[in-house]
This record gives sequence, C-alpha cells and structure tokens, in this order.
Amino acid sequence: MERPPVETLTPQAAMEELAALARAMAEADVAYHQNDAPAISDADYDALKARNAAIEARFPELRRPDSPSGKVGAAPSEGFAKVRHAIPMLSLENAFADSDVAEFEGRIRRFLNLPAEAPLAFTAEPKIDGLSLSLRYEDGLLVQAATRGDGETGENVTANARTVADIPPRLDDAPALLEVRGEVYMSHADFAALNARQAAAGGKTFANPRNAAAGSLRQLDPAITAARPLRFFAYAWGAHSEPLGATQTQAIDRLHALGFQTNPLTRRCEHLSEMLDQYRAIEARRATLGYDIDGVVYKLDRLDLQARLGFRSATPRWALAHKFSAQRATTLLEGIDIQVGRTGALSPVARLLPVTVGGVVVSNATLHNEDYIAGRDSRGQPIREGRDIRVGDWVTVYRAGDVIPKIEDIDLSRRPADSTPYVFPTSCPICGSDAIREEGEAVRRCTGGLICAAQAVEKLKHFVSRAAFDIEGLGARQVEAFFADGWIREPADIFTLEDRYGPGKLTQLQNREGWGGKSAENLFRAIRDKRRIPLDRLIFGLGIRHVGETSATLLARHYGAWARFRDAMGAAREHVGDDWAELNAIDGVGPILAAALVDTFHEPAARAAIDRLVGHLDIEDVAAPDTAGSPIAGKTVVFTGTLERMTRAEAKARAEALGAKVAGSVSARTDYVIAGPGAGSKEKKARELGLTVLSEDEWLELAG
Ligand code: IVH
Repeated sequence: MERPPVETLTPQAAMEELAALARAMAEADVAYHQNDAPAISDADYDALKARNAAIEARFPELRRPDSPSGKVGAAPSEGFAKVRHAIPMLSLENAFADSDVAEFEGRIRRFLNLPAEAPLAFTAEPKIDGLSLSLRYEDGLLVQAATRGDGETGENVTANARTVADIPPRLDDAPALLEVRGEVYMSHADFAALNARQAAAGGKTFANPRNAAAGSLRQLDPAITAARPLRFFAYAWGAHSEPLGATQTQAIDRLHALGFQTNPLTRRCEHLSEMLDQYRAIEARRATLGYDIDGVVYKLDRLDLQARLGFRSATPRWALAHKFSAQRATTLLEGIDIQVGRTGALSPVARLLPVTVGGVVVSNATLHNEDYIAGRDSRGQPIREGRDIRVGDWVTVYRAGDVIPKIEDIDLSRRPADSTPYVFPTSCPICGSDAIREEGEAVRRCTGGLICAAQAVEKLKHFVSRAAFDIEGLGARQVEAFFADGWIREPADIFTLEDRYGPGKLTQLQNREGWGGKSAENLFRAIRDKRRIPLDRLIFGLGIRHVGETSATLLARHYGAWARFRDAMGAAREHVGDDWAELNAIDGVGPILAAALVDTFHEPAARAAIDRLVGHLDIEDVAAPDTAGSPIAGKTVVFTGTLERMTRAEAKARAEALGAKVAGSVSARTDYVIAGPGAGSKEKKARELGLTVLSEDEWLELAG
C-alpha cells in the first residue's frame, strides 16, 4: 500500500510523497552532521533521492523548490587533504520498477529524437555496494587516488589506495592522462574475517562490508589499510587524454586490458527486454557472488550519444541504477515521538523494538504525518484499508532500495485489547504554541516562529551544516549546548562568540566542559575562516522554507551578488512587477519558493536577523561559469514552439553548458527568445516587448 509504483501515483499523492521525502532527507542531513554515525547509510540516502527523482520525472511540475535532487552524498571529512575532481564524480538516478527502466529508455529516445525501431544498446552490470574512488594515472603511473566526497571535492587517499592489490601502481600502454573510476569493496569472507579479528582484539566491528571498506580506505594510517583486504572494480573514467573506445563496452574492455578488474557480469544489451533479463540474471546470482551489490546499472553503450545526453546537476542522463526491491521485517511499535523541524513541521517518528531489515538494524521509522498514522491520505481516502497505527501495534517495517525505513502495515490480530488511537498533538511539544494544519497541507506546523526553541535550534544546526557554513568544531551538539546557555540564539551570534567568550573574557569558552584552550582557539579560527562565504552557501544557510541547495545555487547564479539578491527580494511584491516576474522566470524557481523568499525578506524580524548576520560576512559573488568566448554566457533565453534540429531538453542542456540561463517565461529581462514553428503567446509577448526573437538556425549560429 505504501510506496506504490510511481506510475500509479495521483498528482496529490506524488506531491505529498515529495514533501515527505524532502523532509526525510532534511532530517537525514541533520542526523549526518550530528556525529560520525549517521542515522542512515549513504546508500539509504541515495535511495531516498532516487524515489524523489522518479516522482519528479513523472511529475516535473511538482518538483519542489527545495528538491533534494541536485545533491550528491556528503562533503569530505577533515583529516585528508582535499582533492578537487577535474571532472565531477556523479551519482546515479535510481529506479525500482521495470517501468522506470522503460521510461528511462523512452526518455533517452525522445531526447535524441530516435524512433522506437532505431537500435539503441545499453550495458548492464552489477551495482557494487562499496565506495567510489577515482585513480589518476599520469604517463602510466598512479599519482593520485581520491574519494567521491561531495562529487566536486573528495579526499586524497593515495597512500591507502596503493595498498589495494586490485589497483595497479603502473599501467603499460596507457593514455598519457587517465583517471580510472570504480568501486572499492570488501568481500563477504574478508568482512567476516576482519570482524572476527577486530572482535578478538577488542576493537570496533563493522555493521556491513560497505562500512568496513569505507572505514578501511579512510584510515589516516596506510599501514592499517594495507592490513585490510580491499578490492576494486573499474567501471568508469574521468579526465583522459585520448578516448578509451567508441562505446562503453570497448572502454571497459580497454580498462580490463590495462590491468583492472572489471565486473564479469557486465553485458551489452540490444533491447529493453535484454536489459531486464540481465537484471534478473544478476539478481538471481546476488546471494552467491560473495560481495554486496544493491542493483544493476545500465549505461548507454555509444559514448558519442552519452556526450550528447550529458548531465543533470548530479547525475548523467545516460545511466540508471535499477535497485533490488524492498526487504521487510515485523516488530513492535514502542512509541511515537514528534520532532519539530527548522520550519516548524511536526514529524512523527516511530520508535521500534530494534529489528534487522536486510542486514541493517532498524529502531526508528518515519510515520510521515498525522493522516498516515490515522490510515487515510490527505483527501480522506483510506490507506491500509483504513487501519490506523497505534503504539503497541506489531508493524511491518520495510526498506525499499535501502530507503529510510517505513511502516507499511500493522497486524490487527496482534493489537492489544486496550489500545487507543494515537492523538496527534495540536500544540508544539517544544514551545507549546499552537500547531496548525493549513487547508490542503499534510503537515501540521508550530506557529511559534522565532520563539520556538526547536525551530531556532534547527535553523542554527542547518546554518552550520556541511552544505551551508560548514563550521568545523561547531556541529549540532555544540549548537544545542550554546543555545541552551544563551550563548548563540541566531546565526549572527556565532560571529561575535569570540568577542564575547574569547581569551580574557569573564566566561571563557575554554572553561566550558568539553573545551580546552586549543579547541576553543580552533573554533574561533574556523568561525573567522567562514566570514568569507560563497553566495550560494549563504542563501542556503539562511534556512528559508523551500530553499534547498539546488535552488540556492540557482538563485546565487542568477543574482550573482548579495546586494543584488537582497535588493531584488526586498523590492519584489508577490504576483506583481518585474522583480517578481524575474524571480519566477528562473528555471527551477516556482511561485511557492518565490513567495517564501519574498515573505522572509519582508518580515521585519527575519530581515533584521539576516542583516545582523551579513554585517559580519564577506560574501563571494558567484563567478560566471567558465564559458570564456561563449557569446551567450550570462544571457537569459526562452525556447518556445517546436525545435527541429534537437529536442527541447538537449537545446536547454547545451545553452546552459555555454553559460546561458534558460527561463520558462518571457519578461523584459529576457535576452533572446528562440521561436520554432507553432510558437504562440511567448513569441507574441517577446515581440510586444521588442525583444530579439531568433529562429532555431539563427540561434545555433549565434551560440556556435
Ligand atoms: S557508474 C557517471 N557503475 O553507485 C556514472 N556506479 O549510486 C558514475 N556504483 O557513485 C557511476 N557500482 O559509487 C557506476 N557499476 C557501477 C557502479 C556504480 C556502484 C556506485 C558509484 C556511484 C553510486 C551511485
């Protein structure tokens, strides 16, 4: 009943699930930043993202402004030198159903404008459950190994990679420059033996082979890595001075010939049916492979077509991860807790008698919202045939494609006779303010705003989180402690901490429990370092509802500088005027996000807090994309009508790659309108505004 196939979702259900996913991922983000033992694994997180992307793909118009679909994994940890990847290390879009794969294939055909009969081959190979690594070879010598990190910047683990037997230290007959990418993993047998050794020595044991591989590769002492049996499969490449082949198949064969292990279950598939056959063949062998896999990856075989398809912000359009399906278990629901989020949302969390689901111990699960607990959807239609969820029930927990655990159903036959329906609170459990559910909303929200300690603390945690200000030494725990003592109430206070509690002050940080002279000094330095901050991180860090990392980046790119952004938000009035139109014309910004921004900048207390913060900062403008020589860099363009030389999607992707901004609607700030046959009101409006209207050919000539 829960998590129905995407193609059966109603728009309403899709909207609710997208909201729930965004919330679950925001929670996971917070949990991740609290300590070294995140609530969910990277794989779980990826899977959440995948479901989100699948729903967005089917309902592009429902894509949320705070959509998590633009993010990749987590930022690199301290301790290793950082490596900026010459070519970003991407993540994969996830699919769960056969129909998602058909949709993927169809989407590629549409993008490339290929009829259904035209041949289109893919490779299918196991998705290894390890961690990805990029190996850089110069003149055949291994010079650097880097983890994925956040996709842009990873960790330099070269010394450790050199201890892995499957990683050749030198290659014969290799291109002068070659970055080989693949997965580091640990076999089941080696994992069991390692855990046995660790246990015997009284050391830490690992939850699963993936954690063991990650923990082993990311050892500061390479001697420890050397003692851990890691393996490596090559499946991709980054920068290279000459092509490895014309197809994925040839390139992988070449990597094999160069001395890398490549997965023997990789097949070239001529048709969708062969792809799905290979998926089932690999799934059937999953249990006997001797290492963990969590799905099958399909890649378009022809590399020239891969290049035409290109990338979305964090995933290639030409590849898909088809995950294996859900794993279930039954356990007791011991309690329901309510968490209050940064924007006041009350989220119910199930506290479970710990149970193992697909190899992972689960003790919490999401309950979505009050309707879900009551056994109905937001239109009042029954879900689970109307069965509600009560404390004391036996429940089925599942993780689909490693998603955050959810409760699927309850067993009425085991319900205690004296159980009572769960009563969802109508006041905030933290500040006691009314918790209101607005018409048409699935979520109940605390109305306490700035007086609600939970919201204030969550906002601060968000502010210091990795994707925002990322202040080393100031994590969720420290924020909670400082908040409790009144040292930090709002982001601006972070930047006056040193003046107030630094050396020579009456109450010194170094006298606090858990702090000493050195850690206090380090914290003050880390805070000083973050006074200079890129514009997108600042916008994201403000924690405005609906503004996720992706939309913060879009806003920063569009406005370029803080003053221009702040002035535009201050000047914009909802639904009127050029500033509102400009904001809404940014591709990826919709009216809900726009309204949240405008509201914030018109709310005196919020605006004053932002101004107090900004007074301490030196904000970096967004550098124009490296599109030197591109005649369309920085121009705002609108496509309308039918394009004949390429699909709309390809045209948009190319224009963006050349530094243009592609908008969805025409305004006085549009530079070019590219009108194909059948263009209607947008072309008309462009002509009325006296804008430059180009034909597709004229556009191609201009863009080069
Ligand atoms: S291809 C540009 N192939 O899955 C595409 N990735 O969920 C790069 N992974 O970050 C990835 N097995 O760490 C690819 N056969 C495979 C894979 C694979 C595992 C991992 C990889 C990636 C993650 C995305």
